[in-house]
Formats: sequence, structure tokens, C-alpha cells
Amino acid sequence: MSVASTPPPEDSHGRGHIGEVVALAAEKRWAVVVLAITLLLLIVMVVTGLHWAAMPPSRVETIDVRTVHLAGEFVEGNLGTALGADGRVTVRLVAQQYSFVPQCIVVPDEMPVTFRGTATDAIHGFVIGKTNANTMLVPGFVSTFTTRFDKRGERLMPCHEYCGTGHAAMWARVQVIPAAEFLARATSGERLSCVAR
Ligand code: CUA
Repeated sequence: MSVASTPPPEDSHGRGHIGEVVALAAEKRWAVVVLAITLLLLIVMVVTGLHWAAMPPSRVETIDVRTVHLAGEFVEGNLGTALGADGRVTVRLVAQQYSFVPQCIVVPDEMPVTFRGTATDAIHGFVIGKTNANTMLVPGFVSTFTTRFDKRGERLMPCHEYCGTGHAAMWARVQVIPAAEFLARATSGERLSCVAR
């Protein structure tokens, strides 16, 4: 710019004209930045809006209520906690009026644990102590989520969807044990639980 070559005229406050030019340039720069941020946010809104519309957030997995007990993932022998060949821990459970199977669930601490559950008669649900493990169990659907437990010990797992006259008595227990102890017990490949035999 040619501004620097000529001595700037002073205004009534003794400030150089150059101050105004610099201020204008800075304002323009920031106007561009603000516009860019606004545009970016608009693009994010449009893209996520279209994306969510095209693919709903909760993946829907269905299951035939009539055969839950007879075949497939939720037969009695497959319920409880399993250590997969890939090292992932999966808890499978079924809810019915008025109990959970298994009644006592064992999980390792400080490891991701995936829950997979369903219900056979009415809508049930559960929350595990003061953790974020919380879901509904709906007949005909498989509910699934992954969480981790950082505190060892026993938690109560009550049903939290009103499911009938026995609702208040419907609960299970969850034992969070050290991961090393869990892995030592789980290598046999069987389904673990803390149900007294
Ligand atoms: Cu099951 Cu309330």
C-alpha cells in the first residue's frame, strides 16, 4: 500500500490516519473469519442433518420373541458374560416378568463391556448402580451398549420400566471384579455369572 510512503495526516486527537487504515484492514480480516465460521457451522448443520435423516442414530436389531429361548444368541446356556476370541467382553441377558437372567452378572473393571439384552413379555429396562449403564429392553428388539466400570464392588441392577405388579421386586446384581481375575476365570470359554449354583 502507498500509505506508508507519505507521512500520515493527523486528526484532531493527534492520531495518524494510518491507524484508521490498519483498523479497517483488521475489521475486514475478522469479518472474513466470522463469515467463514458461520459458513462452516451451516455446512456442519446441513451435512449432519442429512446424515442423521438418512441413517437414524439407533441401529435397530430385531429378534423373534417366540424363539428367543429356543435357538440363537439368547438361549439359556449362552446367557451371562463371555470373553470373545477377539478379547471383547459381552454380557447377554434376558428380562421377563419379574426377573433378569442371569440374576447376578459378573464384569471386569477397567475394560470395555458390551451388553446385549432383550425381553420376552413386556417392556423392561435396567440401570446399574450409579453408572451410565442404562437401557430399555423391549420384546422383539436387541438392546446393546458398551460401557466400562471403573469401581470394583457389587451394584444393584433394578428394572426401571414399570412392567407389572412385580416390577418393584425385579432386580439383579452386578459384581465388578478386577480385570485380571476376570480374565483368569474367563479363559475356559464358558459363560460367567455370579449366580449361586
Ligand atoms: Cu421389569 Cu419393571
